[in-house]
Amino acid sequence: MKKLKLVSTVLMVAFLLLLSACGTSKTGGEKKTLRVVTDAAYAPFEYQDKGEVVGFDIDFVKAVIKEAGYGVKVEHVGWDPIFVEIEKKTADLAVSSITITDKRKQSYDFTVPYFLSKNEILVPKGSSIKSAKDLEGKRIAVQNGTTGQEAVEKLFGENNDKLKKFENNNLAILELKKGGVDAVVADNTVVETYIKNNPNDNFEFIEDDGAFEKEFYGLLLPKGSKLKADLDKAVNKVLENGTYEKLYEKWFKTKPDIKILKDQQ
Ligand code: ARG
Repeated sequence: MKKLKLVSTVLMVAFLLLLSACGTSKTGGEKKTLRVVTDAAYAPFEYQDKGEVVGFDIDFVKAVIKEAGYGVKVEHVGWDPIFVEIEKKTADLAVSSITITDKRKQSYDFTVPYFLSKNEILVPKGSSIKSAKDLEGKRIAVQNGTTGQEAVEKLFGENNDKLKKFENNNLAILELKKGGVDAVVADNTVVETYIKNNPNDNFEFIEDDGAFEKEFYGLLLPKGSKLKADLDKAVNKVLENGTYEKLYEKWFKTKPDIKILKDQQ
């Protein structure tokens, strides 16, 4: 009789454990839906089209989350709010062309890298600015809190009163259009896409490999997030099974260098 009681207790405990294990990721066979936040003002990675959030990053994060076995809901909240939401864990992750930096790694976790990027300069055609050095003394617009801001501050100091910071990158570009600044510094793909899509603005881009370092984007997670292992695995799957290449070709009309991403891991 005692033995029977023990067996039933063990079974009961095992059953409860099983139940709670289900609860953490999938409840009753239903997929948990992850809340993804973004700043949808950074085409072609994330932007709004007829009220919908679209872009390479959006396709990519959906593929990764599907691969990991979760549901997904993407919401545009803006750049600064992304970091607040992830810190407070009101969102599960963020996708927003977010560069993996040592500074950010102190407060957040990242998945393995999924995109190679670099800062670049956007100027009106015929500008005297031909390199990063030429930005000295010029009025520069950046999106506040980006690596573009960091790169300019590294070159010309943090208390540079010629540096104008905007809430999103579209506002920085608008300022250049209005003639309020002489240049914008932002991620190369964003700068080059803008030029291509807006030929009437007569802008051109200036690369400077000596001044701007290689950067890698990652998905941003709360520090210690239990999702990291699942998402890293899923990112690798998407990189390896042809999905990444398909999405890359859809958005950039060329083939990706997957090896350079893998070599970073
Ligand atoms: N890669 C840069 C950074 O991480 C800029 C990203 C801006 N992204 C955006 N969606 N506005 O700082």
